[in-house]
Formats: sequence, structure tokens, C-alpha cells
Amino acid sequence: MSKLLEVNHLTTQFKVDKNKIIKAVDNSSFYIDESETLAIVGESGSGKSVTALSVMQLVPNPPGRIAGGEIMFRGRDLLKLSKAEMRAVRGGQISMIFQEPMTSLNPVLTIGRQLTEAITLHMKLSRKDAEARAVELLRKVQIPDAEKRLKTYPHQLSGGMRQRVMICMALSCNPKILIADEPTTALDVTIQAQILDLIRTLRDEEKMAVMFITHDLGVVADIAHRAVVMYAGSIMEMGLKRDLFLNPLHPYTQGLLGAIPRLSTPRGQKLYTIPGIVPDLSQLPKGCPFCTRCDQCMKTCHEQKPPLRRLPDGREVRCFRVEGGEEIG
Ligand SMILES: Nc1ncnc2c1ncn2[C@@H]1O[C@H](COP(=O)(O)OP(=O)(O)O)[C@@H](O)[C@H]1O
Ligand SMILES: [Mg+2]
Repeated sequence: MSKLLEVNHLTTQFKVDKNKIIKAVDNSSFYIDESETLAIVGESGSGKSVTALSVMQLVPNPPGRIAGGEIMFRGRDLLKLSKAEMRAVRGGQISMIFQEPMTSLNPVLTIGRQLTEAITLHMKLSRKDAEARAVELLRKVQIPDAEKRLKTYPHQLSGGMRQRVMICMALSCNPKILIADEPTTALDVTIQAQILDLIRTLRDEEKMAVMFITHDLGVVADIAHRAVVMYAGSIMEMGLKRDLFLNPLHPYTQGLLGAIPRLSTPRGQKLYTIPGIVPDLSQLPKGCPFCTRCDQCMKTCHEQKPPLRRLPDGREVRCFRVEGGEEIG
């Protein structure tokens, strides 16, 4: 399988004070294959959204800036494109949906108007044909009474329906990659499951790759082929979903897995959570970013940051406890 998107040594920083710069994404390398779902998982503040915004080149500047690396997509480095070329990629080949669809929909325009505008932006269609295409897309995301829905306003729809409309807008250009940044976090569990199901179906039907961002390993289990585990701006582990779940190598991944509910957890028993919080990026420890919370921490972990290493089976891990493999960053 060929690599559709390849991010190499991406560093994205924010100027948070007069002379303080933090690295929200620190030397991050990962890839997405055609038609696969890659999950980016980690606690809040670990740099997941900034990773996605960097790929889209939507990092707010100032205070943010992509300070290094390359983002290869179909043979071109997206970071070297002009603003106009990048706009074309965003509208045509890579689409993104966000956690709260209300903020990306215009409250004063009907769903139909917003959809047909998105469609005519990518395709030269008459209004009538664009409306027909909008109805077709609404059906594709399983919105009932599609014709009628065109005349409704965003606030008249439930959260789940609004998220479907957002997915619809994102699909209007037939993207090769859909970036979904916690699209189900604001929804209740049943609706969440329906949206995940929809994204999975669309991924297979449209042969899209999906970059799915979540803080929830349950969601990773549900939708991903592979996952990148991030912590405080760094990739800590990367592997196939099955390998990560059955044999997590990094103490952070182990901790996250300990924190997901299992059927076997006796009722009333408190779930394990990793003690402590994600460190302030402006005050990261000198060594491993996770050392302040790690229950397997050694002396070296406080002194130097472990490199990310690729093991013979393809798994990547950033931990001095795991031996072998080649250093990759
Ligand atoms: N607009 C911003 N201004 C300053 N710092 C930011 C901004 N956005 C993100 N950051 C920094 O980047 C870190 C990672 O953010 P983010 O990628 O949004 O985390 P998450 O993994 O929860 O999506 C934040 O904790 C913050 O330190
Ligand atoms: Mg986020």
C-alpha cells in the first residue's frame, strides 16, 4: 500500500509569552495509507488538534507557527504550496470536521444554502444540480427527509444531525482524506455510535482515508486500523490497533488502557486513571515528558528524552524501557 500522507519531523510552536515558545507538536513523524483509519489518541492538551491544524495549515498565526518538517501529500510538500494552492487542497482533497459543528455552520443560512455553496465551490453546477447533489449527500449521511432538511436552519437540528450535515459538507468535494477532530465527543453515546458507524461506512464506500482524533481509546477500538499515541506534543507509541491493545509497550499507553472501562470491571469499582495531569508545555521536564507520571521511570528518564524507535515489527515507541530497533526521531 502506498502512503497517502506522510508527515516528517513536524514541529509546530506557539509564542505564549514575550520570550516563551512552546512546542505543541515536537518533531512528529507519521503517515496515513490509502483508505485506512489512523487514530491520533492522547489526553487533552497533547497536541492532537494542533497536528490536524498543521496538516490543514490552519494553525492560528500568530501565536502559532509551523517551525519545521514536511507534510508530503501525493508527492508534494504541502508546506511549500502557495496560499491559493493550499486552499485548493483543503477544499478538494483533505477535509476536516470538528467537535462542535455549531461553530462551523452559519446560523443564519439554511442547511441547503450552505451545502449548495460548498458544492458549487468545487464543481461547476447549476443551482438546481447543486441542490440535487446536496440531497444526494444528505441521503448518503442518512439524514431522513433530505429535501425538507434543505430548508431548515442549523439550530433546528439535533447535535447528531448537525454533525451529519458537517460530514456532508466535508464530503462535498470527494476528499481523499477526512480529518475528524473529536467529532463525537459532544454527542451522547448512542448518537456517537451512529456517527462512528457512518464514518466507517463512508470510508469504505468512498475509499477515503480517515485521520480520527480522539481522547477515547474506546473510540480507537471501534474505528481505527492503527493509532498514534501522543503526549505533551510528542509521539509516544505507534502501532496497529490490535498490537497496541494486546501488548501496549509504552507506560503511557498502558496507563490509558488501564483507564478504559471493561466488561469485567465490577460495578462500583473505581476505574484506574493515570495519576497527575499533562504537564504545562512551558515547563516540560528535561527528560521524558511522561517521567513525572510514569510508574516505571528510571534515572535516565529524568535526564534525557528517549528517542522514538522503530522496532523490527514496525511498532514505534519512545521509552528507555523498550530495547532494540532503530532511532527515528
Ligand atoms: N491558540 C493557541 N495559543 C497558544 N497555545 C496553544 C494554542 N492552541 C494550542 N496551544 C498549545 O498547544 C497545546 C496542545 O493543544 P491541542 O493540540 O489543542 O491539544 P489536544 O490534544 O487537546 O487537541 C495546548 O495545550 C497549548 O499549550
Ligand atoms: Mg483537540
